[in-house]
Amino acid sequence: MIKERLKERAAEVDAHLDKYLPVKDKEQKIIYEAMRYSVFAGGKRLRPVLMLETAKMCGGNEADVMPFACAMEMIHTYSLIHDDLPAMDNDDLRRGRPTSHIKYGEAVAILAGDALLNRAFEVASDVQGDAERTLKAMRILSASSGTEGMIGGQVMDMEYEGREITLDALRLMHSCKTGAIIRSSCVIGAVMSGASDSEITAVDEFAKNLGIAFQIQDDILDVEGTEEELGKPIGSDAEENKNTYVSLLGLERAKELMKEYSAKAKDALKPFGERAKFLADLTDYLTSRRN
Ligand code: IPE
Ligand code: IPE
Ligand code: MG
Ligand code: MG
Ligand code: MG
Repeated sequence: MIKERLKERAAEVDAHLDKYLPVKDKEQKIIYEAMRYSVFAGGKRLRPVLMLETAKMCGGNEADVMPFACAMEMIHTYSLIHDDLPAMDNDDLRRGRPTSHIKYGEAVAILAGDALLNRAFEVASDVQGDAERTLKAMRILSASSGTEGMIGGQVMDMEYEGREITLDALRLMHSCKTGAIIRSSCVIGAVMSGASDSEITAVDEFAKNLGIAFQIQDDILDVEGTEEELGKPIGSDAEENKNTYVSLLGLERAKELMKEYSAKAKDALKPFGERAKFLADLTDYLTSRRN
């Protein structure tokens, strides 16, 4: 059920992404091709779906949220292109395809990531709805992908390679590198829908916990998954001497903690009652996901 709904939602997002990322036959066409190559490689579209469903739960207008949902997927895809580079995780498979730098070379891969980031803000600024909400959402989008958010987490991830980490530092790293844009996806959905402060706080609490649970599951799948299921290499974390919940606590404890975080996430949805059903079901689905 939830799987089908996720697919339907992802298809809606893809139709808009297709419009925002056109093919262009001109001198610099390689960059347009490389941007599309990574975006349309079959990602789950989890962040845009979270944004759209949070907006729906808060009674928002989907048309006002869709540009932000697409912008978020572009930022996420850029983060993956750069995450896979030889200077970072050095991986050669992503979303079931050779990574951008394997296909196009490092220079084009770096530029394709940069270009997706810029295009994201161009697209987000295209919102036709309430200007004040849009500005607030733009600020959340940029901060969450920056040095206090995703980039900050990626820096911690690299700094701690091969070094001992505390559980607190690991939690901070996960909440930044993956949690920050999962959190901002949900909060932007709420803000763009004119949600009240207490609703935004509840949404934020939900997403904060979901983000950590999601990255713990990613760490688990790097050990327990298969390349076919994931569309990316397994064992990549151990190879790069990464600190993960699995390396620090072992598989069993990592699984327990993932369940604790997802239970906390669902608890935070209580004020929304029945309207939160999709997000609660999605949380359950994500803790048992295999890709
Ligand atoms: C992978 O994210 C990277 C992490 C932040 C854990 P996803 O698992 O959402 O990847 P796609 O978008 O479906 O490819
Ligand atoms: C990546 O974490 C998080 C970001 C891209 C910001 P990982 O390095 O664990 O993601 P995968 O496993 O390569 O998808
Ligand atoms: Mg990484
Ligand atoms: Mg990686
Ligand atoms: Mg990983």
